[in-house]
Amino acid sequence: MSSMNRVNNLIDHPEFQQHLEKTEELERVRKFCKHGFEHGLAVARIANAYLLEEGAGKLGREVVYAAALLHDIGRWVEYETGQDHAAASAELAVPILAACGFAGTEIEMIAQGIREHRLRRQEGLSPLGQALALADDWARDCRNCAARADCYKFGDSMLRITY
Ligand SMILES: [Fe+2]
Ligand SMILES: [Fe+2]
Repeated sequence: MSSMNRVNNLIDHPEFQQHLEKTEELERVRKFCKHGFEHGLAVARIANAYLLEEGAGKLGREVVYAAALLHDIGRWVEYETGQDHAAASAELAVPILAACGFAGTEIEMIAQGIREHRLRRQEGLSPLGQALALADDWARDCRNCAARADCYKFGDSMLRITY
């Protein structure tokens, strides 16, 4: 079992926690899916399983978990400024990843995956971007969601288990 030290550094990092707190505050009355730690962890587990099945396990579990845990940290920026949160999250992720011991090439890969996480099933996504995009959908429980009638993401396919 490989080490998850750098992922645990990330979870303990004050900037990571501050971004989650800002988003939590701004989502207090949100009726749609929220973007806290639980969401990041769910996406991490699903994306990791998907990449292993696809034979892309060489990315490394730490890279996948870090990308998933960070993929929505810029949500609060989107609420405050309108900037797309995929871009904002990628920018905010870089200094945190560097402080947690990730190498330059890993940081580039993670930032790209985060930037791509809203592009669904498009051609040319990196394996990590593709995994995050799919896991982001598969991490939702639309069946038990009271807001689904008003949700732009919702369709009948979201009620089927596809993965
Ligand atoms: Fe997102
Ligand atoms: Fe997400």
